[in-house]
Amino acid sequence: MLYSEKVMDHFTNPRNVGELPDANGVGEVGNAKCGDIMKMYLKIENGVIEDVKFKTFGCGAAIATSSMATEMIKGKTVDDALKLTNSAVVEALEGLPPVKIHCSVLAEQAIKTALADYYTRQGIDPTPFVGELKDPDEEHLACER
Ligand code: FES
Repeated sequence: MLYSEKVMDHFTNPRNVGELPDANGVGEVGNAKCGDIMKMYLKIENGVIEDVKFKTFGCGAAIATSSMATEMIKGKTVDDALKLTNSAVVEALEGLPPVKIHCSVLAEQAIKTALADYYTRQGIDPTPFVGELKDPDEEHLACER
């Protein structure tokens, strides 16, 4: 089968979908090539991600990776969330077809962008924590559908 059971589960029953009106970190990344957009909402209290929601206008792999990624950072510290990589998310999903690996980057980038927004709102320069945010378009060039 092309997609693992975990991918199908998170695609058909995605966790943490929606918006958080009281989010204090919001990040949106998009891709001009396939038109996919990912928006991530974080509610952070005392350095812990108390709640997280996402909305995406994207493919099934983007939905599944975001669903898994939100599960992996919920209740974790900001430091832990910053360490989350798209490869860890893909591993937790028991793999993605190679052509879809790039879709998983949207979730990681949206989380990092939301964390950068969180730092910026506190008057803190996010660059030392989040690093230079890569343009998802670059990562996405191999993404075809
Ligand atoms: Fe672009 Fe999957 S996110 S096709």
